[in-house]
Amino acid sequence: MAKKSMTKSIGILGGTFDPVHKGHLKLAAIACERFRLDKILFIPCNDPPHKMKDRIANSNDRLNMLEKAIDDANIYRPNHKFEVSTVEMDRQGKTYTIDTLIQLKEIYGDGCNFYFIIGADVVMDLVTWRNFEEVFRLVKFIAFNRQGFPAAKTQKQIDFLKEKYGAKISLVNTDLIKVSSTEIREELLEIKKSDTIKDEMLMTTYDYIILNNLYGYFDKLKKVILADLKSSLRKDRYEHTVSVMDTACELAIRFEYDTNKAQLAAMLHDVVKEYPIEKLQAICLKSGRGLDKCSRNSTNLLHGPAAAFIIEEKYGIIGNEISNSIYYHTTGRGNMSMLEKIVYVADKIEPLNNFNGIDKVRKVAKKSIDEALLILLEKSIERVKTEQKELHSLQSSAFNHYNKALKTKK
Ligand SMILES: [Fe+2]
Ligand SMILES: [Fe+2]
Repeated sequence: MAKKSMTKSIGILGGTFDPVHKGHLKLAAIACERFRLDKILFIPCNDPPHKMKDRIANSNDRLNMLEKAIDDANIYRPNHKFEVSTVEMDRQGKTYTIDTLIQLKEIYGDGCNFYFIIGADVVMDLVTWRNFEEVFRLVKFIAFNRQGFPAAKTQKQIDFLKEKYGAKISLVNTDLIKVSSTEIREELLEIKKSDTIKDEMLMTTYDYIILNNLYGYFDKLKKVILADLKSSLRKDRYEHTVSVMDTACELAIRFEYDTNKAQLAAMLHDVVKEYPIEKLQAICLKSGRGLDKCSRNSTNLLHGPAAAFIIEEKYGIIGNEISNSIYYHTTGRGNMSMLEKIVYVADKIEPLNNFNGIDKVRKVAKKSIDEALLILLEKSIERVKTEQKELHSLQSSAFNHYNKALKTKK
């Protein structure tokens, strides 16, 4: 194997990454800065000897989530060189740190210093590691202590390991690690998430979890939301919602979008439509969005912005993509995302709905979502004019955007 001799100091951050979260990236960044490391290798484990097997997502999913997170981190933190290494996953059976270190020495050469990054709680277990004395000879350790955890006992153990085995372990106290992967998994399935979990979750990871129904999260969320809707909405509104959900799923398949995310957004689009207008106004006032002169007294215009705000509080839905598709489902807007278009169109063309010309729109929607969207925007503007109501600026800007875009295309 060719030796890579350019790098001098490499940090190793191993773990299950089930799932990876911002805390992992923060640790890596601190280690890079404090110990002047040239790069950090994130090494997802294959079959860890110290963890329960049944708590681990499949290695392919863990690796995919980690790779996406590291790609993003390298874009947003160009000063830190983060890399994913599959040395452990590529080996069969149980993996031990000593085998990994020997392999890395082989790859990077003897001139390279390795820093093994661990949680402070792991310090107590180091003497149970296979060939731990050899491990102490090969690497220095950086042990991170989470705020609120007493460091004195750990420091005592570090002093003991240093004296008896010559171990080199630096203890770093930090308040930047707020959660563990286990806490994230557990809170995900609680549906309502704490602010800490929302802050520490990476968007790419959350999207991946929904898309792949990891930890059974999408199934659980869908079940909880549909049960809530069934008991709180009028029968016809509930049936409309399920129908929009199915139509959104079909559109997502047709236009190669995440079907689970499309279903989630669709099932929540009318979640507050039956709220009294005062309640919708209060929600929009609280969120600071959606309440303007034109929409103030319109349930039709307020239920989108109000629902977009409620879904985070009620179901812990994270990120702007789903909430924006709900926010704009009645007005549309210029330059809509694919999910916004899917929810807007599905809401109007679902099989239970009926209006003059609906069959034509359904046919168009099989080929071009933008063309279907433009027809629907035009119809909604016509309706507003017929009813002699005020046209919302978002509706006109949506129509102008797609009218221009499609004309330019032709
Ligand atoms: Fe609606
Ligand atoms: Fe609807």
